[in-house]
Amino acid sequence: MKAKSILITGCSSGIGLCAATILKDRGYRVFATARKESDVARLKSQGFESIKLDISDSASIKSAVDSILQLTNGTLDALFNNAGYLQAGAIEDLTRNMERAQFETNVFGPMELTRTVLPVMRKQGHGRIIQNSSILGIITMPYYGAYNASKFALEGFSNTLRQELYGSNIHIAIINPGPIVTHLRENAEQQYQQTIKQIPSSPFQKVYEQMEQVYFKRKEKTRIAKGPEAVVKPLIHALESARPQAHYYVGAPASVFAFLRRILPDCALDWVIRKIR
Ligand SMILES: NC(=O)c1ccc[n+]([C@@H]2O[C@H](COP(=O)([O-])OP(=O)(O)OC[C@H]3O[C@@H](n4cnc5c(N)ncnc54)[C@H](OP(=O)(O)O)[C@@H]3O)[C@@H](O)[C@H]2O)c1
Repeated sequence: MKAKSILITGCSSGIGLCAATILKDRGYRVFATARKESDVARLKSQGFESIKLDISDSASIKSAVDSILQLTNGTLDALFNNAGYLQAGAIEDLTRNMERAQFETNVFGPMELTRTVLPVMRKQGHGRIIQNSSILGIITMPYYGAYNASKFALEGFSNTLRQELYGSNIHIAIINPGPIVTHLRENAEQQYQQTIKQIPSSPFQKVYEQMEQVYFKRKEKTRIAKGPEAVVKPLIHALESARPQAHYYVGAPASVFAFLRRILPDCALDWVIRKIR
């Protein structure tokens, strides 16, 4: 039987790399994409079919999808929109450029890539599109406003798409991980150093000092922070189940906060979030 094909974005590290590895071992034909040539070369040397794809660049999206379709005779069974990063910083300190960059990668890229593969899935009569959102697409946390907004936008887009594709045999699922140990925090720190850290004075200086000492430094698995394989389990369900779920919450914090979001008024949820920060 022909192996199922999947395009995964952001395979240089973290959840994308873990998903690519597990799915390849499971027999999928994985197109493990990354935005840097050096990562593409590394992935190829590890035995992956790897193609360069920068999700913030329309030409790169088109060229990557064209290359994949040439290799598959014009078919693609699944897309995992995984690539993303976190722009930290209080909303007062963000600039339009920081917000625009956050949305180009976390929202407009996945939207465009989804639209690019949809005609292929329609033609073949089936498809699975899985979005890597976050629990921060369901609840908000202070000082992550750009990221919160991007993941809420991805949720809105994906929920609408699910409604529009009802009955088409193309299924949309959203994964909402809680904390996962990946390179997300170190990439976020780099981004923060180049942006927010350059601001000469901010009313949030103390918050940033704490972020530098605690948030960016936490890199180990704990009872709360899971390894990236925790995200691959629901990903496999979303790919293989006859009835994929609309949302998959990964880890206890994500499930608890998704539940609290449903039952608590805003002021009570804000209080809980102030207490855990
Ligand atoms: N880790 C968590 O706690 C957590 C929780 C909830 C949701 N998520 C979501 O999970 C997804 C994967 O993140 P991760 O935790 O695995 O972090 P990660 O290790 O930093 O991986 C992020 C991946 O996205 C790629 N990427 C960033 N910008 C890109 C662009 N313009 N084009 C293509 N690829 C790009 C990165 O590539 P480079 O190496 O080139 O930067 C990297 O491969 C993200 O969407 C994130 O929001 C993570």
